[in-house]
Parts: sequence; C-alpha cells; structure tokens
Amino acid sequence: MAIFEEEKWVDWIDQMAQHDFVVIGDFLPLSAYEKLKSYLNKKLDEQQFDKAGIGALADNQIVTRIRGDETFWLDRERDRPEIQEFYDLVEEMIAHFNRLCYMSLSGFEFHFAHYPQGTFYKKHVDQFRDRSNRLITFILYFNDEWKDGDGGELVIYHEDGERTIEPSGNNCVMFRTEGMEHEVRLSHASRFSLTGWLLYQPTNVGYIMG
Ligand code: OGA
Ligand code: MN
Repeated sequence: MAIFEEEKWVDWIDQMAQHDFVVIGDFLPLSAYEKLKSYLNKKLDEQQFDKAGIGALADNQIVTRIRGDETFWLDRERDRPEIQEFYDLVEEMIAHFNRLCYMSLSGFEFHFAHYPQGTFYKKHVDQFRDRSNRLITFILYFNDEWKDGDGGELVIYHEDGERTIEPSGNNCVMFRTEGMEHEVRLSHASRFSLTGWLLYQPTNVGYIMG
C-alpha cells in the first residue's frame, strides 16, 4: 500500500522542479517516524555510529574541522526487517521521481547521523570529485525537542537566495544534489537525522535496485 497519496508526490516533485528543493513538515506517519527513531536510538545505544569522513573510499578522511558528525550506514538486507516502512517509502519515492521527472534512479544510500553538541558541517556539496551519481539528497530530522537557540540549522545556498531550515522532529528536506551548496550550523545540542541519496546508475553497468 502507498504511504503517500499521488497528489502529495505531485506537489512535492513540482516544488523540486521549480525551486530545486522542498521542505515538508510533519512528513512521515507517526508510527513510521517513531519506528525509525527508535531504530536510530538502538544503534546509538549499541555504539554502532562511526566518525564520518569526507571523500569516497581511499580518499575518505576524518576532518572534524569540516564535519563533526558520526554516522551509521543503513544496509537494506540487514535493516529492512526492522524499518520496513522506510524502505517502502524509498521505493515509492524512486518510482515517483522516475515517472514524474523522467529520471533514471536505480539505487540509494542512507545513513543515520548524530551531531554531538559543538559540531557542524561546513558548506559543501554532496558529491565526490570522482563520483557524481547522487541525484537527490533526502534528509529527515528526529529532534522532537528542538528549539530556537539549539542551532544545527541546515542552510541551503540556492542561487535565488539562502534558506534556513530547522532540524525539528519529522521535518523533511529534499534537494537536487548537483551543485547545491549547504551547511549544518554549529549545533548546541545533540542533533539526529537520517540522510541519504537517490542514485543514478547507467543501466549498462547492470546495477539493479535491491
Ligand atoms: C550531509 C548533510 C545536512 C543535515 O550529511 O551531507 O549535509 O541537515 N546533512 O543533516
Ligand atoms: Mn551534505
């Protein structure tokens, strides 16, 4: 069963087409949101988060002057049974982008992120020098108690102007990955999110979603 009505996808994708990004408050149905959040908390309790790096593969370096978060990468095979609805959502999202925007998305990668108090992520784009198959960035926040002064806002530097987004619980942001500069402001409280990318793969590589 679909998680969101067709109308909503049309509206969100329309906003993406017009502005290159869309911000959606109260995004997930509450039960799906709570399930994701408790899975994040479980992984945190199990100390499964690692310091995040920048750059791909061998190029990956931990540079806390640039980003201070720690991440837990999701694995579909391993994690699907526990967060089924989230994976259903990802598939629904990919199907709608492909159909409504004639895109060729065929994969995805997601991680939970924790920004401890006093950390940030300097202005950057979500593409590596030697790899540019990320087409759509997706972010969902889990900070139910977030309030003014806690910091950790996402700032999108769009050519039409800056947009500041509060990382409040169940706020969702999607943007076109290519060339979109953005940063995470200094966070004065622990800050939690799920961040991921919808990927393009030329079909001749033989890469099939799932
Ligand atoms: C990232 C990122 C933004 C956010 O992980 O690349 O920019 O608001 N995250 O968490
Ligand atoms: Mn980013």
